Amino acid sequence: PVQKRVDDLLARMTLAEKVGQMTQAERNALKSRSDIATYALGSLLSGGGSVPTPNTPASWAAMIDNFQLSAQATRLQIPLIYGVDAVHGHNNVIGATILPHNIGLGSTRDPDLARRTGEVTATEVRATGVPWDFAPCVCVVRDDRWGRAYEGYGEDPALVNSMSTVITGMQGKADGSQLKNKDRVLASAKHYAGDGGTAYGSATTGGYKLDQGITKVTREELERLHLAPFQTAVDLGVGTVMPSFSSMSIDGATPVKMHGNDELINGVLKQRMGFDGFVISDWAAIDQLPGDYVSDIRTSINAGLDMIMVPSRYVEFTQGLTNEIGAGRVTVARVDDAVRRILGEKFKLGLFENPYSDPTQLNTVGSAKHRAVGREAAAKSQVLLKNEGNLLPLASTSKVYVAGSNANDLGNQLGGWSITWQGKSGPTTTGTTILDGIKQVVPTATFSADATAPLEGHDVGVVVVGERPYAEGVGDVGNGHDQVLAPADKAAVDKVCGAMKCVVLTVSGRPQVVADQLGKINALVASWLPGTEGAGVADVLFGKKPFSGRLPVSWPKSEAQEPINVGDASYDPQYPYGWGLTTQAAARQKLTDARNALLRKHDAYALAAAVAAEIALQTKDWSGPKAIIALAALEQSAKYLERTKVDGFAEDDAVVGAARWIAQNKIGQNLTEPTSKLTSDSEHLALSGQLHTAVTKLTAAFKTK
Ligand code: IFM
Repeated sequence: PVQKRVDDLLARMTLAEKVGQMTQAERNALKSRSDIATYALGSLLSGGGSVPTPNTPASWAAMIDNFQLSAQATRLQIPLIYGVDAVHGHNNVIGATILPHNIGLGSTRDPDLARRTGEVTATEVRATGVPWDFAPCVCVVRDDRWGRAYEGYGEDPALVNSMSTVITGMQGKADGSQLKNKDRVLASAKHYAGDGGTAYGSATTGGYKLDQGITKVTREELERLHLAPFQTAVDLGVGTVMPSFSSMSIDGATPVKMHGNDELINGVLKQRMGFDGFVISDWAAIDQLPGDYVSDIRTSINAGLDMIMVPSRYVEFTQGLTNEIGAGRVTVARVDDAVRRILGEKFKLGLFENPYSDPTQLNTVGSAKHRAVGREAAAKSQVLLKNEGNLLPLASTSKVYVAGSNANDLGNQLGGWSITWQGKSGPTTTGTTILDGIKQVVPTATFSADATAPLEGHDVGVVVVGERPYAEGVGDVGNGHDQVLAPADKAAVDKVCGAMKCVVLTVSGRPQVVADQLGKINALVASWLPGTEGAGVADVLFGKKPFSGRLPVSWPKSEAQEPINVGDASYDPQYPYGWGLTTQAAARQKLTDARNALLRKHDAYALAAAVAAEIALQTKDWSGPKAIIALAALEQSAKYLERTKVDGFAEDDAVVGAARWIAQNKIGQNLTEPTSKLTSDSEHLALSGQLHTAVTKLTAAFKTK
């Protein structure tokens, strides 16, 4: 039915109306409100920090409803599609739930949580009248110095793929049938392709901004690292894709700007991957193509871009495109294809039936329910890197000394893309800082950011260090875009850790080099950019929740090791990809829950993984590598569950095979062939019995090796 409606409408459209649909202007760039009708504009956006006054959910809704009213005044009453960057919650609106940035979500290894964060974001964004979100960033981060590293889920495409459930959380079913619901928005997988793989900081950037350089890859790397997440996004029905500012050089060939990359957009994304949504350009990105603006228009539209974020040159763009069509350099068929795609998404979103916001939804913005998801995500994203003498979790009776530049700074804790584009520079929002969270548990905690308050009389120091916010560009501009601690933070670590046992938390969008300080630090936590719910960090510090995060990127010993990725020839990180400690009690609970869940699934491979986890559990040694084995086993089990649709209990050799795979690949240990035969049975009790037998046998086999 959508296709029929699209065809019917398209048949009634003039060329000018079609060109207008392909044009997206920034709301502040409109010379007059009537330009929406004059140019039949298809879309408006708010760029980062482009917010109404006052910046409340209600004024957002009123602003967008007003724009829609202007669109309703056009001949065909085609609604606008309004877009924003809500890249970690509805980060544009004061009072909204701001979630951990994606690097933290990648640490959770929890696809279901990612899906729920997508739902939170979608609900709050749609409540403010916005049906379209330029998120998620499904980049595979291959160089932490890239200024957008924190917008990615990690360095491994498999991890990025698994977290793409966020798309389902935002859009609902892959067929788009839920997009019209009040708690869904259209997503945008970005930036296609290779944005996280640009060469950093060398002459090869050829004058481009450092986050917009050249991705130099072999075809195999392109497919495996950078294209795979987009295929996943397409399979999940993502409605839009945004190309990358960067250029792509495959197998040493001349770099081609992604915004003019016919092979990868038309050829791969649309034809091979079967993407049937629309391609939206990045901000004025076509202007960077070689040649004049008319040639930029021609090249980009012919390469498969469907809508251009001009964001201010809408007069030039519409005239230029119209002329190119008139001269036959852009075909009407290409234009019809683009407009079909755009209208298709507008119909799916239900905008023709109701383009306006729903006032009953406004109270979802920053609701307690959503903040609870934010707090859970903040807690699960914490990665425990070091825990000498089991210093963590802390007792709530501890006399705590809190220091460091990021302990009580909500703006720093949110990072870039928070209320303003670069973060922090403008008004901030509501939430708990990490210090607030600590004080909820230990109201008497001392706080002295620069550690000048007397140190005596405390049991433990919590020093929260890290980066200042940044978005796009070169990274931490406050720190000179390097990954070492700021001098004041170093001094605070030296002082506090010299005087008492101490925990250091890094609040940052990428790993911080701590090699020089590590000897004095008893416990080290990567907190990433945890969002508005700093109390979630305190939840794991004080043992209310287990530490369960695992590194989504490799943690270098020095900046000279960058770029550093698991599988590199001379891989020698401070902490490897996947590293993350836990505590025995927490791990035991996690494994028991996982085992029970897996048993309910009656899946042989999953059971095998549970067996391997059980073995790890029985070793009773909860130093890092053992915990990793258990968690790796669980991860493996999740993969098996995805791959196999075995209903009932399959062959015992499959069980043993999977357990052996885990043992061999994760701990380099060959398991001997167990002698027992496990019989098939879907009864829960019988399965438990088999598990028990398998555990005994496999543990014995494990020990004899
Ligand atoms: O969506 C963003 C993109 O990620 C970076 N440039 C600006 C766009 C719109 O704000």
